[in-house]
Amino acid sequence: MAENSGQPLIAALDIGSSKVSALIATQDSERRLRVLGTGQRESRGVKRGFITDVEASEFAVREAVELAERMSGVTIDDVWASYGAGGVTSTVANVEVVLGGHQIEQADIDQLLSAGRKEIDATGKVILHAHPALYTIDGAEGVQQPIGLHADRLGVDIHVIAADPAPLRNIDYVIRTAHLGVKAIVASPVAAALACLTDEERELGVALVELGAGVTNVSLHLGGMLVGVRSIPLGAKDITDDIAAAFGVNRRDAERLKCFYGSAMTSPRDNHEMIEANHIGAEEGGDPIRITRAQLMMVIRHRIEEVTGEIDAGLRALGFGGPVGRPVVLTGGGSELKNIADYMQGVLGRTVRVGRPKTLAGLPDAHSGAAFSTLVGLACLAASGTGDLRDIALGNITQRKPARGFVGRMISALKQGY
Ligand SMILES: Nc1ncnc2c1ncn2[C@@H]1O[C@H](COP(=O)(O)OP(=O)(O)OP(=O)(O)O)[C@@H](O)[C@H]1O
Ligand SMILES: [Mg+2]
Repeated sequence: MAENSGQPLIAALDIGSSKVSALIATQDSERRLRVLGTGQRESRGVKRGFITDVEASEFAVREAVELAERMSGVTIDDVWASYGAGGVTSTVANVEVVLGGHQIEQADIDQLLSAGRKEIDATGKVILHAHPALYTIDGAEGVQQPIGLHADRLGVDIHVIAADPAPLRNIDYVIRTAHLGVKAIVASPVAAALACLTDEERELGVALVELGAGVTNVSLHLGGMLVGVRSIPLGAKDITDDIAAAFGVNRRDAERLKCFYGSAMTSPRDNHEMIEANHIGAEEGGDPIRITRAQLMMVIRHRIEEVTGEIDAGLRALGFGGPVGRPVVLTGGGSELKNIADYMQGVLGRTVRVGRPKTLAGLPDAHSGAAFSTLVGLACLAASGTGDLRDIALGNITQRKPARGFVGRMISALKQGY
């Protein structure tokens, strides 16, 4: 790991469908993160979270990282990267070993976790995270620290998040082609949740919806873990494309119309407000086209209704029922659309708030909006180190330095054979 005057550097890289962003941070003596630099480039060669052009995406990665390095005055060796496309699964494997009444030692935990490894059925997927969640002692559930207790039987729930291998390999390949190492690849909802949900929300139950440019990830968090995830191949870029197609304007103009005049809620005044835009291919100085805001709203609403319907179906499929008080937190760049939380609250029948990443010292305003939840969350995950068993990313499809200490041994035990 690169060093910054003795402090290890943490580098996060989020390869999205619309932008590639990088963040370099360090930790102070109290383990608080301090951002040294950030960088962003328009994403190329990424569609709905999947790499579709290695050369183009590698270029964007290199540029985003170089910008962050220039701003921070350091160079980095490896990154914590995100995976935000589909094909992510979340399961729980339960295993138990018979101890015969002796006092639980580290060796018992190691044995249990290695038994757990065999139980994890990823059926052709790559394990991104495997968290030994809670232990069970002689049928008593919810034990966090079993060492030192006497037991006949010791069990553990291992929470496993896995993804399809090919798209992960492509991300890994692109990063390595840009001459960077890969510390870990983290499922985007795991990272985003750390950045914009409170610990209490993650503990008591909350749904997180990350509305990106090309992908919308719906995830459930309970007991401090991600317990379910659905990926919807729709995003805010679809709205831009609809506007471009409906009015014959170029994408840049359509994006401006969406961000500046767009909203998820209509108003009677929309009929009287006229908006100008340039017709695609129009010569400079040519007459602009004029549309009413109501016409623009119709296009936006149409797509937002579709996306919200898919989110609703996703939440239902994940079993997000129970107390209506359990909120939905909306993040990702698409959540910056005006009034979208109000609109979704009406359709979903639950409290919906927009979740922006927690404030980090030194994080520039330009990189503190909802579009940067995953990026900030990657840094938080990296910084959380080995303290919280449930937040350790084990996913690594390449080599990784052996971790040390108690948790390190656990990770090693789990990782063998992955
Ligand atoms: N004010 C705004 N109003 C509407 N949409 C916005 C606004 N600001 C940003 N967006 C949209 O957010 C999207 C970018 O979101 P984000 O950066 O989260 O996506 P990404 O990470 O690049 O892509 P993905 O995660 O889907 O692969 C763009 O489509 C952009 O138009
Ligand atoms: Mg994203």
